Parts: sequence; C-alpha cells; structure tokens
Amino acid sequence: SAFQLPTQLTGFTADTPRSPAGGDKTMQERLPLRAIWPRKGDGALSQVAMLAPIFMLLSLLLISYGVGSIRCSSTTVNGNIMDMISLLDFKRDITNNSRQALRSWHASVPLCSWEGVHCSSGRVTKLYLNGRGLLGRISPSLGNLTFLRTLDLSKNGFTGELPPLNRLNRLEYIDLGSNSLRGTIPDTLTNCSKLWILDLSANLLMGEIPLGIGRLSDLRKVWLSSNNLTGKIPPSLKNISQLEEIVLTDNKLTGTIPDEMGIFPSLVYLDLAGNMLSG
Ligand SMILES: *[C@@H]1O[C@H](CO)[C@@H](O)[C@H](O)[C@H]1NC(C)=O
Ligand SMILES: *[C@@H]1O[C@H](CO)[C@@H](O)[C@H](O)[C@H]1NC(C)=O
Ligand SMILES: *[C@@H]1O[C@H](CO)[C@@H](O)[C@H](O)[C@H]1NC(C)=O
Ligand SMILES: *[C@@H]1O[C@H](CO)[C@@H](O)[C@H](O)[C@H]1NC(C)=O
Ligand SMILES: *[C@@H]1O[C@H](CO)[C@@H](O)[C@H](O)[C@H]1NC(C)=O
Repeated sequence: SAFQLPTQLTGFTADTPRSPAGGDKTMQERLPLRAIWPRKGDGALSQVAMLAPIFMLLSLLLISYGVGSIRCSSTTVNGNIMDMISLLDFKRDITNNSRQALRSWHASVPLCSWEGVHCSSGRVTKLYLNGRGLLGRISPSLGNLTFLRTLDLSKNGFTGELPPLNRLNRLEYIDLGSNSLRGTIPDTLTNCSKLWILDLSANLLMGEIPLGIGRLSDLRKVWLSSNNLTGKIPPSLKNISQLEEIVLTDNKLTGTIPDEMGIFPSLVYLDLAGNMLSG
C-alpha cells in the first residue's frame, strides 16, 4: 500500500479539472503535497473541503501501511532473536576462544555482522568458522538455526556428538571435518534432503553409515574418511545418481563393494582404501 499512495494522489490532482492547481502544469504542481496545500486568496477553504476525502484516504492508507509494517518486521525480529539466542548458546559451549574468533559475537553488535555469520533477509543462512581454534562441544541449539544452508566448523577442536540437524531442512553444505566428534552419524541427518556436500571426515565417529543416506537424493560429495565407521557400504547409495565424490578411506568398513558403485555416471573420485573390504 505504501507504493500506491503517491500514485493515487498524483493521479487525482492531474486528472481533476476543478483543481485550482490545474492551470499551472509544471511537474512541481503535480507533486502531491504541493497540490493539496491550500493557497492564500485562491478559494483555499473550498479546496480544503473538496480534498477532505483525500485526507481520509491518506490516513487510512497510512494506518494500514503502519499495521502491515509492524506485522512484517516483528516476524523478522522474532526469527532474528531466535537465531541470536541459538548462536549465543553455541558460543557459551565453546571452552577455548583464545584466538578471540568470537569477539564480535555480542548482543550489542548486529547479528549479521558477527564473525563467520552470514544472513539473508535477516536470518542466519551460513555459519563459517573454519580453522578458528575453537574447542568444546557443538551446542544442540545449532539445530534451531532453521534457515541455515551452509555449516562449516571444520578444522577446530570440537568434541562430543554431532548436534541434531534434523530440523535444518534447508542445509546444503555440512563440513564438520577435522574435529574430534564422537558417537554415531544419526539417521535423522537424512532429513536434510537438500544436502549437496557432507563432510564428516577426520573425526572419531563410529557405528554404521546410515542406510537412509539414500534419501539424500541431491548429494554430490560424501566424505566420511578417517573415522571408526563399521558395517557395510550402504547399497542405498545407488539411489543418489549424481554422486561425484565418495571418500570412505581409513575406517573399519567390511563386506563387499556393492555392484551399484559402478553405475554413477558423474563419479570422478572414489577412495575406499584402508578398510577391511573383501571380494
Ligand atoms: C586454548 O588454546 C590455545 C591454543 O589455541 C592454547 O595455547 C591454550 O593452552 C588453550 N587453553 C585452554 C584452557 O585449553
Ligand atoms: C530450540 O527452540 C525451541 C523454541 O522454538 C526451544 O524450546 C528449544 O529449547 C531450543 N532448543 C535448543 C537446543 O536451544
Ligand atoms: C524432518 O523435517 C520435517 C520438516 O520438513 C519435520 O516436520 C520432521 O519432524 C523432521 N523429522 C525429524 C526426524 O526431525
Ligand atoms: C577406533 O575404535 C577402536 C576400538 O574399537 C579404538 O581402539 C580406536 O582408538 C578408535 N580409533 C579412533 C580413531 O577413534
Ligand atoms: C530413494 O529415493 C527416494 C526419493 O528420491 C526415496 O523415496 C527412497 O526411500 C530412497 N530409497 C532408499 C533405499 O533410500
């Protein structure tokens, strides 16, 4: 409604023959404020009376514009505050910030200017804290950054388990490689159905590669090397037709190499060395 306001008023003054301003056809006279401003000795009173409905319309438009903007901005602000709380929780769990990488992470600095934080429309879409010397666990609050598309915490000293990422269904890029993460790769990770790149290499992960990985149908690169993964290479990988890189080096994988590994038309890099595969 804010954009219609000037058009309607300009249209009225230009097309109304009774308007006293109509005699002088410069662009100046077409400006809405000049057009409705009463002039001395120019039938100002009757002009004001005639324009009364316009003032009403103007008030209505301003009111509706105001209401609209309050509703819109409060939605953004709520999401923004939620993202900020999640990131402050994340910071609280970091035990060694000796390089001061998160110095700017403070409520007095705009969220989208924090080190490593990128936003789109006021929401956090990218967290890039690669190689910042961060130690500690990855707070589960990260799982509340629902607009996140890129998560790169690689080459730090993160310990503990993977945070829950199942609500982050916009995630396209996860790199948590070269940390000290333990535990298993949760099957719910496969809820991140837009994932292109999954890198969990060089951690202390154990257990099996989730069977549900076959549901990540956009996946291009999967790097799970240098962990302690056991079990078989999941045959469901065959579901992911555009896989380009599969790197499972240096784990404890057993069983045979599935026949399906031969049918990826885009595959350029396959490394299965350092396992206990047979056949
Ligand atoms: C924090 O990390 C630095 C190196 O990044 C190290 O020198 C320091 O001892 C660490 N402090 C603690 C409390 O772990
Ligand atoms: C995630 O956000 C919800 C509110 O939407 C809150 O109740 C919950 O505690 C948050 N979880 C974490 C781990 O911060
Ligand atoms: C997966 O994401 C959907 C939203 O896209 C959500 O409703 C569902 O609860 C999520 N599943 C899990 C296991 O978190
Ligand atoms: C892998 O697991 C074995 C025990 O099964 C353990 O001794 C070893 O330290 C683990 N290696 C890594 C890199 O976690
Ligand atoms: C293969 O992908 C489809 C969707 O693309 C999904 O419904 C199905 O569960 C997947 N199969 C496996 C074995 O992951």
